[in-house]
Amino acid sequence: MKHLFTLLFLSTLCFTSCKENVTTPEPVANKRGIITQNAMVVSARKEASQIGSDILKMGGNAFDAMMATEMALAVTYPYAGNLGGGGFLVYRLADGTKGALDYREKAPLAATKNMYLDEDGEVIKNKSTIGSMAVGIPGTIAGIFEAQKRFGKLEVATILKPVIELAKNGYHITEKQEKRIASYDSLFKAVNGKTILYNNSLKAGDKISNKELASTLQRISDYGRDEFYKGETAKKLVKYFQAKGSIITMEDLAKYEAKWRDPVSFQYDNLTVTSMSPPSSGGICLNQIMTMIEPFNLKEYGHNSLKTIQVMVEAEKRAYADRGYYLGDPDFVEIPLETLTSDVYLQERMQNFSFKSPTPIDSISHGKIEGYESDETTHYSIVDSFGNAIAVTTTINGGYGSLLYVDELGFFLNNEMDDFSSKPGTPNYYGLIGAEANSIAPEKRMLSSMTPTILEKDGEFYMTLGTPGGSTIITSVLQTILNVHEFELTMQEAVSAPRFHNQWLPDEIRMEPNSFDRKLVDDLTALGYHVNESRSPIIGIVNGILMLEDGTLEGGADHRGDDTAVGF
Ligand code: DON
Repeated sequence: MKHLFTLLFLSTLCFTSCKENVTTPEPVANKRGIITQNAMVVSARKEASQIGSDILKMGGNAFDAMMATEMALAVTYPYAGNLGGGGFLVYRLADGTKGALDYREKAPLAATKNMYLDEDGEVIKNKSTIGSMAVGIPGTIAGIFEAQKRFGKLEVATILKPVIELAKNGYHITEKQEKRIASYDSLFKAVNGKTILYNNSLKAGDKISNKELASTLQRISDYGRDEFYKGETAKKLVKYFQAKGSIITMEDLAKYEAKWRDPVSFQYDNLTVTSMSPPSSGGICLNQIMTMIEPFNLKEYGHNSLKTIQVMVEAEKRAYADRGYYLGDPDFVEIPLETLTSDVYLQERMQNFSFKSPTPIDSISHGKIEGYESDETTHYSIVDSFGNAIAVTTTINGGYGSLLYVDELGFFLNNEMDDFSSKPGTPNYYGLIGAEANSIAPEKRMLSSMTPTILEKDGEFYMTLGTPGGSTIITSVLQTILNVHEFELTMQEAVSAPRFHNQWLPDEIRMEPNSFDRKLVDDLTALGYHVNESRSPIIGIVNGILMLEDGTLEGGADHRGDDTAVGF
């Protein structure tokens, strides 16, 4: 009992502190990010960006570099980089073809709608976030292999070689990493029943290697994607699952497939925005919000001005209300995509907006579509020298996922099952409310907010970007796009600028602390908005690449993390 209490206490603590255990960075003024002539990788770790860039330099393309970068993040950034999670890829090929790959985790075959509820129908605390019942079937290895097989140029063994060496030879712990690991140390011990590789003896500057992960990657390099889903790795994983009381079986792993999807694409001024479709809510919500704000002259109102924030927040409220009701896995639920993103519907949604006061949240709910025609994560962006661009967001959900660390294989397992709606109307880890569309069913994918996005300007590649941050992902991507397009910030400034967020419920504007003008905060409060600056020190860790007018690339790497742009 005492043990459980400690766990509950620590996990509550982590929602507020471990998740993003860094201070808000100083704004960067008039600063361009790194500029390169040909190609670039921007990711959460210098080593991962470097390996990705090296693969591009040796003639690989963005999809080869994806495999290398994603696996190098699993080595150096176990907080979110993974083999035990999933993700989404949005791409634009040099010839302008666009597409998306869904390698989101799935619910196990033995999953049931009420698996996180007790006899009284109440949500059992932590069951969907910590430990073996929180784990969805991992999709990452299927995803990187599927993308590389269709579009890549190099041999898998060539791509994975430097990553395996990195895992074997080690990399240096950063200051932020030291703090993060230390704040999770007791939780790791409590959940795993022992001290794991990542523990509070690690100090910034220490070199850490992961021999078990190196062996796992070597087997995957030798035998391909099926090694993870059907081979020795699969057997070891299922043995581990059984020991921990998980319901995931060999059949679950063997049946897993990544899926190609049509991305969401829409116009905003002279931009074509292409982003992730369901089972992510990212693309649809971004589409809804940008369509709702397009009639307003944000440029004239000014960057982070009272009026700009009001318009954005009110559009966000309405989009998140729709998200909670209509969105889920498109293989299981019918989503009225056309209506939800139509101009007529969205103009109607904004009709009761006024600059005089906030629209009350209970008067919003989800829109009525009858009457209209016919419904801890990390991001990296890559542009290669062939002209292909990709945006990839990958996750194990919370920081270090379910906190379960598979010693023998060298990686953490996700807690993505929490992205389902365990009970209609009850908020999840990110405070998001869900409904029937996102209820649990065997083999269903849980709804995501991940928003890997690619922009074209007048038909040419313009920008690739994305971010972690749970429910705040969509609004962080939105602000970064507007910072460049409407407010003419550089890519680096756009990424560094202070951020705010609204998600309909709870009824508040979340703001990065001490980053916004005091008068602005007072004015919003006077109008009736509830400003909350204490929820977390940062909102999102955005990474992006912008094509400048002279054809060079500018990297925007977020200093809220250890994120770094590398290219040539
Ligand atoms: O898919 C989603 O929306 C969440 N699992 C993402 C989690 C996340 O961004 C955590 N990072 N802070």
